[in-house]
Order: sequence, then C-alpha cells, then structure tokens
Amino acid sequence: MTHPVQTLPLGTPLSPSAARVMLLGSGELGKEVLIALQRLGVETIAVDRYDNAPGQQVAHHSRTITMSDPAQLRTLIETERPHLVVPEIEAIATPVLEELEAKGVVRVIPTARAARLTMDREGIRRLAAETLGLPTSPYQFCDSLAELQAAIDAGIGYPCIVKPVMSSSGKGQSKIDGPQDVQKAWDYAMAGGRVSHGRVIVEGFIDFDYEITQLTVRAAGSGTSQGQIATYFCEPIGHLQVSGDYVESWQPHPMNPAALQKARDIAKAVTDNLGGQGLFGVELFVKGDQVWFSEVSPRPHDTGLVTLSTQVQSEFELHARAILGLPVDTSLRAPGASAVIYGGMDTQDVVFDGVAEALSEPGTDLRLFGKPESFVKRRMGVALATDVSIDAARQKARTAAGKVKPRAAR
Ligand SMILES: Nc1ncnc2c1ncn2[C@@H]1O[C@H](COP(=O)(O)OP(=O)(O)O)[C@@H](O)[C@H]1O
Ligand SMILES: [Mg+2]
Repeated sequence: MTHPVQTLPLGTPLSPSAARVMLLGSGELGKEVLIALQRLGVETIAVDRYDNAPGQQVAHHSRTITMSDPAQLRTLIETERPHLVVPEIEAIATPVLEELEAKGVVRVIPTARAARLTMDREGIRRLAAETLGLPTSPYQFCDSLAELQAAIDAGIGYPCIVKPVMSSSGKGQSKIDGPQDVQKAWDYAMAGGRVSHGRVIVEGFIDFDYEITQLTVRAAGSGTSQGQIATYFCEPIGHLQVSGDYVESWQPHPMNPAALQKARDIAKAVTDNLGGQGLFGVELFVKGDQVWFSEVSPRPHDTGLVTLSTQVQSEFELHARAILGLPVDTSLRAPGASAVIYGGMDTQDVVFDGVAEALSEPGTDLRLFGKPESFVKRRMGVALATDVSIDAARQKARTAAGKVKPRAAR
C-alpha cells in the first residue's frame, strides 16, 4: 500500500505565511529538532512542563503547561493552531491529539495513534507481539504483587525484569534474580512510575549479545516512489545501558547480515503499522542471528544523539525533514560515539569546568543542554567523538565526558 507524502510549504516565520510547528516536550532531543526546524525557517513553539526547558531557549515561542492535562493541552493547541504537533515525550494527553487530528485541526507526528500506542508499554508491546507477531521477550501485565508473583511462577521465571507501564529512562525498573527480589522490585516500580497507578510489565530476561537502536525514517520517496512515503534505515546504533538509562552509544554497530536483515524487517513492520512521517527509534536485542523487538520511540531517540557527529544528517535533521515532506539522507559520515554527562549533584545554576580540556582532542564535540536544574542522575550534556574505529571513538567520547565537571555556581 502506498501513502502520499504530506508537505508543508515553508514561509516566513512570524508572518501569516509561516509554517508553524509545536513541540510537546522541549528537552535536549526536542531542542535539536527545534534547531533543525529553525534552520529551515519554520516558526517554532516549544512546550514543556517547566520554564526555560532546553528547547524553549531556541524556539520563537515558549509555553509551559501540564501536557498530560487534556483541558490544558486542547486549549493550547486550539489557541496556537500549529500546522504540526510533534510529541517529544510520552506523558501527553494523547486522546486530545487523536480528537484534534480526526477533526483536521492539526497533523500529529507521526500520527496521533502512534503517540497513544507508545505512551505506555502496554499498547506498543501488545501491537508488536500480539497483532504483528514479532518476537519479544515473554511478558505479562500485572496490577498487584500477587499477580506479579503468579506471572513469574506461571512461566516468566527468573531472572526477569519489572517496569512500571508508564516510565522511561529506567525509572522504577529492576531485575529480579529470585523469589527474594520480588517484593523489592514491586515496591521500587510503585515508587518510580510516572503516573501513580500500580500497573507493571514483567518480562523474561533476554540474555542478549548486544542491543541496538535501529533508527528508521518514513519520509518522501524518490525515483519510483516519488510523491509517496518511503522507509529509510540508518546504520545500527549500539549502546550501553546502566540501570535502564543510556550512558554510551556508538555507530555503526557491526551486525551479521542475517541479524541486520531481521532487525530491519522488524523495524519496517512496526513503523509501517504506526504510519505517518518522521523518524523512529526501534530498540532491538540481538543474540547471534536472533533478534527481539523491545520498544519503539516514534521520534528521535536518546542513543541517537551520536548521529550529531556520525551522520550527514543527524536524527534530528532527519525528523525535521521527514515531517516537512523533504528528502532525507541517512548515510554515515564517520564512525563515532557519544557519552553522557550527568549533573552529579542536585543544584540550580550549574557551571561546567573542563570544557576546553574536553574539546582539546581533535574529533571531539559537546552538547550542554542548558537545563535550569541539575540532579545527580540528570543528563546535562553529552560528549561526541568520531574516529577511525568504534573503539577509538568510544574511548575518546568517554574521556571527553569525564573531563567536563559540573559544579554549583554558588
Ligand atoms: N527483557 C529484557 N531483557 C534484558 N534486558 C532488558 C529487558 N528489558 C529491558 N532491558 C534492559 O533495560 C534497558 C531499558 O529498558 P526499556 O524497556 O528500553 O526501558 P525504557 O523505556 O526506560 O528505555 C534496555 O535497553 C535493556 O538494556
Ligand atoms: Mg528503552
């Protein structure tokens, strides 16, 4: 089945001809999407739950609302009337997006349905495993400690992983190695979920060789698919997660041809179903030739920050181009890596020492996100590096990240 590409005429910002795009969520990933849009002369509206979020600092307009509140979200969209609404986070009142999209008030990226299905772990997991029949870890959804124990005993077994259905970056997530860990994992999930309702997913532990993010772009086709949406793949991104949060990523991650083909088939099946235009981050586990689907972001992925230095067009530029109906180029420029810089402390008004030292090595780059508040485990920046090999680039990125030292200004 073919789908015509939707385009948005690019006009003059702050005038009636402007192409207007609203980002729902304006963290470090949204900030880079906003910069890419700004470069194309798009008028941008950056929305977040707190003032001076990273993306709000580079947009034409900034708005602060609770995006999970349907009334606030509807009022904002109806007042601002953007051409496109681009979700950057999961915790959004997605029924409002579905309603406004159905009425033709806005176009939601990639689609309002994709935003709804990926806003918690249940919608997307059931779609992938039960509707599309893709390989995933064995799983159960549970609403109580008793149900969790029953699910483990009935077949999930040990080790397994428990995650709140609404959470990201490893929050509330833990591994259960045996019966002694079940209560602790349940309590931790209840404390760490985003919305305080007690539903979790328990997944059998996949003993993978490595995990990747397969960035997949649905954008304007060329040649025989001119005028239609086509699917493009970036080189696989390898990454390292510590307690469910990404700390390092690199590209290209070497894969055997059979595994790569399976990864792309899975990514194609999921993104075809979610539809629309834009970039997706498909997370996959790989062991030998076996590939499991884990989850998908219908938007740029944190591990894809590495593409700021490795690709001709970063994942953020690819997303911007795809949603505007413009051609994309997913090719690699150089092997490279990224390493996360954490705040290391709870404070406001942080100052970064060691930036010059970090950047003194050729082939290194840096993003400092400009977050107004630092937490011990908050991602405040990222070091980027390119080199002749992945190993060399990872070493370089880690070294650069280690040289940047956040401290309290007062
Ligand atoms: N079933 C599993 N088996 C093995 N490792 C897992 C499993 N589920 C999650 N993980 C590990 O935890 C990380 C975070 O889990 P994920 O489901 O992606 O949560 P989040 O939405 O917080 O990113 C994964 O990237 C992977 O390293
Ligand atoms: Mg993940």
